Amino acid sequence: MSRTLEQMQKQYSSPSKAMEGSAHRGPVGPGRHMRMKGKPKDIAPTINRMLSYLSRYKLRLVLVFLCMILSTVSGLFGGYMIAPVIDRILIEVNPNANVHISGMQKASDGIIKGLTSYLSLGNVSEVIKYIISAVIIAFVLYMIVVLTTYIQSRLMLSVSQGAIERLRNELFAKLQQLPIKYFDSKPTGEIMSRFTNDIDNIDVMISTALTSVFSGAITLIGTFAFMITTNWLLTLITVFFIPLFIKGGGWIANHSSKYYSGQQTALGAVNGYIEETVSGQKVVKVFNHEEVCVEEFGLLNNDMRDKQMMAQFWGGIMGPIMGNTSQISYGITVGIGGIMMCLTGFSPGALTVFANYSKQFSMPINQLAAQVSTIFSALAGAERVFAVMDENPENYNDTENTTIDKITGHVVLDNVTFGYRPDKMVLKNVSLYAKPGQKIAFVGSTGAGKTTITNLINRFYDIDSGIITVDGVDINKIDRVALRQNIAMVLQDTHLFTGTVMENIRYGRLDATDEEVVEAAKTASAHSFITRLADGYNTVIEGDGTNLSQGQRQLLNIARAALSKAPILILDEATSSVDTLTEKYIEQGMDSLMEDRTTFVIAHRLSTVRNSDAIMVLEQGEIIERGTHEELLAMKGRYYELHTGLKELD
Ligand SMILES: Nc1ncnc2c1ncn2[C@@H]1O[C@H](COP(=O)(O)OP(=O)(O)OP(=O)(O)O)[C@@H](O)[C@H]1O
Ligand SMILES: [Mg+2]
Repeated sequence: MSRTLEQMQKQYSSPSKAMEGSAHRGPVGPGRHMRMKGKPKDIAPTINRMLSYLSRYKLRLVLVFLCMILSTVSGLFGGYMIAPVIDRILIEVNPNANVHISGMQKASDGIIKGLTSYLSLGNVSEVIKYIISAVIIAFVLYMIVVLTTYIQSRLMLSVSQGAIERLRNELFAKLQQLPIKYFDSKPTGEIMSRFTNDIDNIDVMISTALTSVFSGAITLIGTFAFMITTNWLLTLITVFFIPLFIKGGGWIANHSSKYYSGQQTALGAVNGYIEETVSGQKVVKVFNHEEVCVEEFGLLNNDMRDKQMMAQFWGGIMGPIMGNTSQISYGITVGIGGIMMCLTGFSPGALTVFANYSKQFSMPINQLAAQVSTIFSALAGAERVFAVMDENPENYNDTENTTIDKITGHVVLDNVTFGYRPDKMVLKNVSLYAKPGQKIAFVGSTGAGKTTITNLINRFYDIDSGIITVDGVDINKIDRVALRQNIAMVLQDTHLFTGTVMENIRYGRLDATDEEVVEAAKTASAHSFITRLADGYNTVIEGDGTNLSQGQRQLLNIARAALSKAPILILDEATSSVDTLTEKYIEQGMDSLMEDRTTFVIAHRLSTVRNSDAIMVLEQGEIIERGTHEELLAMKGRYYELHTGLKELD
């Protein structure tokens, strides 16, 4: 049976359970507060934070601003040229016409006349000369508009792409700092969505909407100045509609912002689901889950459609509403202007340019209204990106960061208690002592807590009580990087990166030579299969090693750990998929490697652990037996049961 939409929404996009659970462990960051309450009421902090990414481009932004001013003013002057031309023609036709000429019109008339005196066009009439001069001036002005707009958009592009690059880098760097528990509770696709959709939306906003806001503001001020010099009364009428625009726009913006947050969250859930289904395609097919998948995806997709429809609807109606209001304002202005023309001698040329300006005046507001959907998608995206940035990094609670150079490998767990969630302890009062060069094995049933112990030694998670020391130093006080440099690990779930076999093994120690890599591969019994691959060590591994067998993947992971010179080695079911003969070879190879290292081995196959210095039998998070193979057999307890039970099965 497929899941309901509510169940899936909770699973794919809720704040992580691990995060909720860990709230008792330390102070809570500001970002977390914001997220827990859901949508922040105030969008100003998000905008400020987005703008802070532009702060390093101050000089370019100042240039952009100057270009915008130049472009707007040139455009306004260019448009103004029509006023003296119309009035000149009018006076030419009817020299007695009652036309009131404003100061600005006189000035522009003077400039046109000035150019006319330079033009030598033969016996062309003065009026034509006048018109040609006005056209030339307008042309030059509009060329300035074209040029400055070009420069401005080029500059803005470099600013926006630079800012986005930085945002992406910071987000990625932050991801590398986040604790494992963050990834435990988030579908990969959901995290990916922040990198792709959310950042894309921010990109669009910075590169287009921001320019609109800037140039809109300048156009508004410039046009206003031109309008007021042309006719103050008509200007007042036009301006009267502004509060209406702002109020209406504000209401719609407020109303639609929640749909945009919902839209981005739904998109994250859809991406999470797709990623999971694609990576788990084999399981989907084996259990014939295709139909259920389609059904479940349909639910999530449906939800996304609804949220997108609402968001786009509210974003989309803004433009037409604003457009219509500005048409009304335009109609009234022109009507009254016409009456004034008849009654007060207001010049027809001035009315024409004023009508143009009044249209231009509402344009930035309309433009902004049309950008609402872009802006809100970006704000919702930014919120999700900043939510990740505000997560506490792995070393959030670290007070001391002792760096240790070379450790010998004394590992002590003293009364360690730990739970992934505060209400369920997974390890209870675990104590053990490992001397350098010792091989300590963990055995026990599935889910007993074996992997968990190794996760704690590595500081993937912080313990609830007790203490873990390495060479006598509390690991909570050791710098995580320094600690992990001293631990090599073969994880239970292997992972390979896209790259050659050589590169994948070298991941264990980046300065290793090719010969050392081959040596490590031989130790791990991986050499013979690698040489049989099409390109040997240069064979490219694809998609987490899908072109290799499970056992081969494990061998490469072992080789990687063997290459590392770390004094502590953890092998978690490292040879579980390898045939018993190869396992024997690996053991022989590893014996020399383990000589001077503290090694923790986890294995279900008891034959692998029988030569350990100490074997810990774990059951439900507690060490119930400990000793050497012989001692444990003599005890006739759980280990004996496991051992003989397995023998019987054999
Ligand atoms: N990331 C996690 N978040 C929450 N609980 C977890 C997590 N990882 C493991 N657990 C729980 O902790 C317990 C111990 O898990 P662990 O992986 O240590 O078992 P294990 O002994 O290694 O088992 P196996 O032999 O199957 O590998 C299990 O009950 C499991 O449900
Ligand atoms: Mg395990």
